[in-house]
Amino acid sequence: MNTRERIAITDVSPRDGLQNQTVAVSTADKLALIRHLAAAGVRSIEATSFVSPKAVPQMADAADVIASARGQPDVRISALVPNLRGLERALEAGVTEVAVVVSATETMNLRNINLSLEQAIRTGAETLRGARRSGLATRAYVAVAVECPFEGPTPIERVVSIAAGMLEAGAGEVVVADTIGAAAPAQIDRLLAALAPAVPIDSTAIHLHDTRGLACANAWAALQRGVRRFDASVGGIGGCPFAPGAAGNLATEDLVLMAEQSGFDTGIDYAALAEVVDFAQAILGQSLGGRSMPWYRRRRSGRR
Ligand code: COA
Ligand code: ZN
Repeated sequence: MNTRERIAITDVSPRDGLQNQTVAVSTADKLALIRHLAAAGVRSIEATSFVSPKAVPQMADAADVIASARGQPDVRISALVPNLRGLERALEAGVTEVAVVVSATETMNLRNINLSLEQAIRTGAETLRGARRSGLATRAYVAVAVECPFEGPTPIERVVSIAAGMLEAGAGEVVVADTIGAAAPAQIDRLLAALAPAVPIDSTAIHLHDTRGLACANAWAALQRGVRRFDASVGGIGGCPFAPGAAGNLATEDLVLMAEQSGFDTGIDYAALAEVVDFAQAILGQSLGGRSMPWYRRRRSGRR
C-alpha cells in the first residue's frame, strides 16, 4: 500500500518554458513535449497561453496546441489567459482550465499586460468569474510575489490581499509566483505564513524560478509550510519576457528528485523525465537540465 503523501506538480514548460525562446518551436514539437511529459507521469500541464500574438509570438498557435493536447485521460491541460478576450479564445479552443495572472506591483502589470495594478486586479477577477460561469477550473497567479524587477521587494500584505481577492473571485488555486527567482527560504516561509489565514493551504500553489540557485530550497520551505501544489518546468526552461533578469523555472526533475527522496509521491518517473529533458534540449538546440541532471547523466552513462 502506498502511504506516501502526494504532491501535485503542474509542469509549465510548454507555456512558461517556451514563451521566451528565441528559436521557433513547431506546434508538433510542443505537442510531442506535452505527450512525453504525460507519459512520464505528469498529471497537470500548462500547455500554452491565449495572449496577444504581437506581445508573445511564441504562443500564437495556442488554439492548435489545445485542440490536440486536450482530452488526454487523467491529464489536466490548462492555459494562461490575461483577460476576457483570452478567456473567449480559450473557450473556443475547448480549454477546461485557465490561469489568470495579476502581478503584485503597478509597473509589472503595466509591462506585462498593459494594465495598472487596480485594473489588473479587476480584470483578473472578472476573467475568473467568467471562467467559473463557463464551468472551467481556475488558477490565479500572483506574480512578483517576493520581488519585482522594477519596484524591488514586494509588500507581503499586498500579496495577501490580491490572493484573497482572487480566491473570492473564484480561483480554485492561488499560485504564489517568485517570477524572477529572488526569494530565499525564510522569505517563502514568511510569505506563506502570512497567506495561510487568507487562502486554504489546499488551494495554495507555488511557482519558483531558479535565478539564484535557491528554487529547490524554496520548494522545501513551501513543503514544510504544508504546500502540496507546485509549478515546475522540465529541464528548468522558462522565464517571463517582460521580467528582466529572470532565469528558468524550478526544474521539474529537481523537484521530483527532492520530493520522492524525501518520502513524497509525485507520480512522476525521474528517468522518463530525464528523457524529456533530452527531447527539450533537441528541439531548443541548447543544453538543459536542472541541478540534478549532471549527476543523473553521469550515472546513466555508467560513470559515477
Ligand atoms: N489574445 C489575443 N489578442 C488579444 C488579447 C488576447 N488575450 N487581448 C487583447 N487582444 C487584442 C485586442 O483584440 C486588440 O486587437 P486589435 O488591435 O486587432 O483590435 C489588441 O490586442 C489590443 O487590445 P488591448 O486590450 O488594447 O490590449 P493591449 O495592447 O493593451 O495588450 C495584452 C494587452 C494582455 C493582450 C498583452 O499585453 C499581452 O498579450 N500580454 C502578454 C503577457 C504575457 O504573456 N506574459 C507572460 C506570461 S505572465
Ligand atoms: Zn514563471
